[in-house]
Amino acid sequence: MLLFLILLLPCTNHAFGLNPAIKAVLASKGLKYGTHIGTDWMHEKILSMKVPDVTGGVYIGFGTVKYVLDGISVSSCDVPEPSVNFSEGSGLKIVINGLSIAVRGNWHTTFGIITDGGSFDLAVFNLDLTLLVDIGSDDKGHMSILSKYCSARINSATINFHGGASWIFQPFVDCFKSRIKALIEEKICPLVDQHVADLEQYLTELQVSFQIDPIVVLDVPLTNAPLISSSSLGLDLKGEFYSIKSPKEPPFEAKAFDLPKDDGFMLSLGLSEFSFNSASYAYFDTGHLHITVTDEMIPPTSPLRLNTSYFGPFIPQLPKLFPNMLMLLEVYAREIPMFSFLPGEVTLDFPGAVKALAILPNRTLTPLFKLNADSLFSGKVYISEGKLKGLMELKNFTLTLASSEIGTFQTAALEKGVNMLMKISVLSVLNAKLKEGIALPTIRSLNFVNSVLKVQQGFLSIASDLEVPYPKREYF
Ligand SMILES: *[C@@H]1O[C@H](CO)[C@@H](O)[C@H](O)[C@H]1NC(C)=O
Ligand SMILES: *[C@@H]1O[C@H](CO)[C@@H](O)[C@H](O)[C@H]1NC(C)=O
Ligand SMILES: *[C@@H]1O[C@H](CO)[C@@H](O)[C@H](O)[C@H]1NC(C)=O
Ligand SMILES: *[C@@H]1O[C@H](CO)[C@@H](O)[C@H](O)[C@H]1NC(C)=O
Repeated sequence: MLLFLILLLPCTNHAFGLNPAIKAVLASKGLKYGTHIGTDWMHEKILSMKVPDVTGGVYIGFGTVKYVLDGISVSSCDVPEPSVNFSEGSGLKIVINGLSIAVRGNWHTTFGIITDGGSFDLAVFNLDLTLLVDIGSDDKGHMSILSKYCSARINSATINFHGGASWIFQPFVDCFKSRIKALIEEKICPLVDQHVADLEQYLTELQVSFQIDPIVVLDVPLTNAPLISSSSLGLDLKGEFYSIKSPKEPPFEAKAFDLPKDDGFMLSLGLSEFSFNSASYAYFDTGHLHITVTDEMIPPTSPLRLNTSYFGPFIPQLPKLFPNMLMLLEVYAREIPMFSFLPGEVTLDFPGAVKALAILPNRTLTPLFKLNADSLFSGKVYISEGKLKGLMELKNFTLTLASSEIGTFQTAALEKGVNMLMKISVLSVLNAKLKEGIALPTIRSLNFVNSVLKVQQGFLSIASDLEVPYPKREYF
């Protein structure tokens, strides 16, 4: 049984004990903005609240009056902005002072065979609510939330009954008026607890794995419980990419990193190079870093074509052995391409290989030679005008002959030619795109604004404010 459990362990999603590759820190400024948005939301929610019918009985000295309050709707409400603070090591403390709500509805009473009814107005003034919620995580890496303490006090409540005629019910009306405050007061915390429980249920069902494209998924369960200080909430996420077809751990591990917290921004994000390299591994391991280049794919303006006639200056024997034939290149990653983040600089080490084949007149392919092509890209990335921008360069490019079916040849001239070709094709396309900028993603309709991206030792940091465009607030 124990062995069975141990065998089962690595299959579960839960990632406790690993170094996180993505970190997110919500600062007080972010909490404040969230509270502000939340207050608007709460106001709208309360106004559109469906209040269930209330039924009960009140003993009035000579019997019990049964009553039903129905058709209850909120006619107005005043929602002051709550004070929401991080509660170090546990969660959030939420205090609302002076919430007022007015409702109206109908009342019906029965006493034996006598019935009566009318309408009523009810107002609750200066409701004070204090709520402590614990924030933690479950064993699948979801954030969890639990109502730990709730207290509600109503300063005053008034109720006015209209209509109705029976003297029998007058004592009920008086009695109900005096009890109404207590009746409402004791209903508030169970209602709040239910809302927190609903939120917890929602969090439990939240996805912690996202399909990015047909090839990879990104796993983002929490690697440990949220870290709550007096001024921030920190989430450590696994942030590892896996191939969908054959998920495997890469032959390298996530290194720990410290995300500097910037209280001037609502949110700080850290993305370690491990996250990028796990994606690189997933594509590499499933053979997706592979491309077949044909002559049709070479731009018409290129001085070099995939035709043996053009290769005389580089490989003198080639056009003699295979005159006037089109060629085909298999270009692929020889080893896992690795990203490195250094202060102010991103590098990509791409150990590639190129297999060249000739297309014979009878359309069969014959191998010509294989070259190792090692590229070292280096670049700068930054966020400007709300877009990711940058500039990449090819820092080093080397071609070496790995094997040949047509005898040996010097690679120096070819290396120079291909280096130039890469600069005018791949890099110029990439840099044109990076100059124009790539739109930052929106997360659940949250826009990143005033974002600052920095490349640091081993990770990228993004400090940003958030903005919820007004018409899209239904997500909260
Ligand atoms: C709690 O938050 C409010 C703002 O929402 C702030 O004014 C107050 O100082 C905070 N209290 C503590 C104890 O941090
Ligand atoms: C290769 O290039 C030469 C010179 O431009 C051309 O004459 C020949 O047709 C090309 N061969 C093929 C197969 O396209
Ligand atoms: C194609 O031509 C080559 C050389 O002329 C020859 O060796 C090969 O067997 C031929 N293949 C087919 C399928 O005819
Ligand atoms: C380029 O890479 C080769 C081997 O990969 C290395 O020997 C050479 O020193 C590098 N050159 C530069 C300028 O980094």
